[in-house]
Amino acid sequence: MKVLVIGAGNMGLTYAEGMSKSKLLKKRNIMVLDKSEEKLEALNQISHFDAFKELDECVPQADIIFIAVKPYHAEGLFKAIKSLVKPQQIIISIMAGVTIATIKEITGLEKIVRAMPNLPAQIGKGLTSYVTSDEVSRIEMLTIESLLDTTGKSIRVSNEKLIDASTGISGSGPAYVFYFMQSMMEAALQMGFSKNDSTVLVSQTFTGAIELFNQSNLSPNSWMDKVASKGGTTRAALDSMEDNNVNELIKEAAFSAFNRAVELGKEH
Ligand SMILES: NC(=O)c1ccc[n+]([C@@H]2O[C@H](COP(=O)([O-])OP(=O)(O)OC[C@H]3O[C@@H](n4cnc5c(N)ncnc54)[C@H](OP(=O)(O)O)[C@@H]3O)[C@@H](O)[C@H]2O)c1
Repeated sequence: MKVLVIGAGNMGLTYAEGMSKSKLLKKRNIMVLDKSEEKLEALNQISHFDAFKELDECVPQADIIFIAVKPYHAEGLFKAIKSLVKPQQIIISIMAGVTIATIKEITGLEKIVRAMPNLPAQIGKGLTSYVTSDEVSRIEMLTIESLLDTTGKSIRVSNEKLIDASTGISGSGPAYVFYFMQSMMEAALQMGFSKNDSTVLVSQTFTGAIELFNQSNLSPNSWMDKVASKGGTTRAALDSMEDNNVNELIKEAAFSAFNRAVELGKEH
């Protein structure tokens, strides 16, 4: 199997590296194409990929074409590959807002996967949600899933609306976590800790809490009940959050991202 990654930016390289490290593909079976000279020069220094600048040199050889350019480059790119593609080829697109129908219409291909990754993919801890067109077979889907899993975990969703929804949860979600961390670090500074100590206090608290959660079968609510005793310090903090409707505000924020993803999809 040969995979071609088009767009050697943050995400394209993350997946190319993930696939390469996973040993799912034989060496030299990962091709990477970018139009920028600077990126090509950098790619040529990486010995485990074959770098390309011209579509006709690599598109016909690929079994799977992984598209990782910005959404506004999609139309031009799809028009350029239309005459080079073959019906059995599979396109995996991670472009936000570009629908399966659009990809089918412009490329003429039928086997399409639309995926939504998130930033922790860069360290192998990502979450990619994906949906496939009906023409992708079950065996092909398993192959695709193992390729996506090389940057973390993946979940298959049943329709494209859930891809927009996952943008609001896992796609934009790392920023919500950073927001919470930032607030806690500011509180620690105001309480008198140094910047360095504030960072360690907060990051280790997040790491520990997530590990506890991952190693148990308990829900976040059950863990809160375990930590917070009546009349205690944690209960005081949780009551303050409840009084200020923080739970509803977080949900509202996630829905804002979801709605924006839908809007961006319409623009494309
Ligand atoms: N970053 C994230 O966390 C994230 C999360 C979810 C989804 N995504 C999606 O991932 C995609 C890539 O994002 P990114 O942050 O990796 O972008 P990026 O760093 O800008 O990388 C895109 C690369 O593709 C190149 N390119 C553009 N048009 C091309 C063409 N026709 N042929 C070959 N190469 C071309 C660009 O070159 P130039 O710079 O010269 O234009 C750039 O090197 C986007 O569609 C985004 O919606 C990203």
